[in-house]
Amino acid sequence: MSLMNEIHYELRRQKLLSSLEEGVIILASASPQTRSNDTEYPYRQNSDFYYMCGFREDNSLLVLVKTKEFSKSILFVEPYNEEHALWNGSRLGVEKALEAFSVDEVYDIHTYSLLIKEILRDHIALYIDLFDDSSWILQAKKSAKELHETRGVKRHIKAMYDVTHLIRTQRLIKSHEEISEIKKAIDLTAKAHHKAMQISKLGMHEYELQAHMSYVFQSNGTQAESYGAIVAGGNNANTLHCVDNRDILRDGDLVLIDAACEWELYASDITRTFPVNGKFTEAQRDVYEKVLDVQLEIIKAMKPGVKRDWLQQYSEELLCQALIDLGILSGERKNLLEANAHKKYAPHGIGHWMGLDVHDPCPYVDDEGESLCFASGMVMTVEPGIYIRADDVTVEEKYRGIGIRIEDDILITETGYENLSSAIVKSVAEIEAMCKS
Ligand code: GLY
Ligand code: MN
Ligand code: MN
Repeated sequence: MSLMNEIHYELRRQKLLSSLEEGVIILASASPQTRSNDTEYPYRQNSDFYYMCGFREDNSLLVLVKTKEFSKSILFVEPYNEEHALWNGSRLGVEKALEAFSVDEVYDIHTYSLLIKEILRDHIALYIDLFDDSSWILQAKKSAKELHETRGVKRHIKAMYDVTHLIRTQRLIKSHEEISEIKKAIDLTAKAHHKAMQISKLGMHEYELQAHMSYVFQSNGTQAESYGAIVAGGNNANTLHCVDNRDILRDGDLVLIDAACEWELYASDITRTFPVNGKFTEAQRDVYEKVLDVQLEIIKAMKPGVKRDWLQQYSEELLCQALIDLGILSGERKNLLEANAHKKYAPHGIGHWMGLDVHDPCPYVDDEGESLCFASGMVMTVEPGIYIRADDVTVEEKYRGIGIRIEDDILITETGYENLSSAIVKSVAEIEAMCKS
């Protein structure tokens, strides 16, 4: 059961509407995606749409109308249909949707193409996802054009705006309920990572660890994983998005696992790296502790007012220094940073917003292009990594093939931060103990 109730969605819609003088907002549900022939991927609702109304069915639309005198919310849904109920499950239908959702009006989606023209009449602004080329949006544009060409209609749509930017700015700050959903996702993800550490042994396949984690997720009622799991043994960890997960885990190798589940559509995103046989070699520990030190230092620096860009720059300085300390890079840190030498071994960013999407598409900069400052309620991952390819002969042999990332989910609070995933073991001693248990 989602912790969000109708009041939450109403407040979100009010807030969205308060940022415009007048106009019509159209938000479309996600389209089902074909997997092969006539089979589909499991359906996942569009996050912006879901954030504004909590409706989970496909083939639905949310239309918000604001004039100088009033505002109203309209949901378009698939009507209840016996045939569909038999084959694919029951839909809520128009009447029940009106009872269950706190919108002002609910209509059959099949009336949308007629009604949208009436809704747009006399409006001057349309707010849509500018990159949504669904038939719903095309229909709205067509209707706006027809109204332009209709005698007697005095006011026409004369501007189209991107509504996603407004919604995603709102999505930046998470409510208590949203944080609770994220925490629930992280709790299960913690169990799954600990399970993987406990059962890992040489000779297993990467997909076996993945299967044990998926079992934890699914047997606890999650509807989905937040992204395709990465279970990367040894040198596979040096391919950042290695989702093949079909190799054998070898003695003496590390395994990097970047896997996490959703809870009520809220994501978690966690990476841990541990030795397949439960014991770090000296070289692995040296690199691991450098990455961990960087991560702890970065997390410590997170608080309201700190710029996200500064954090990125600071993490690059720390990672560059770590590479110098390990003897992987040599030279002046300033010069190495200027030449981006560190990026060969630490190529990705320090973290990203997380929420309804694992990579929450909330803005990173303000309208002037200035980096946003952290504020209480924002959630960002912190995920430094050092990756040394097995064939990199410029690096001491003992380090070759080591790829390490450590990723936690951090909430900015009034006074600093809360590491939402602090219960997942991550020091060398904790990991070795967990692998033994
Ligand atoms: N799991 C995707 C990421 O860490 O960004
Ligand atoms: Mn991440
Ligand atoms: Mn991740």
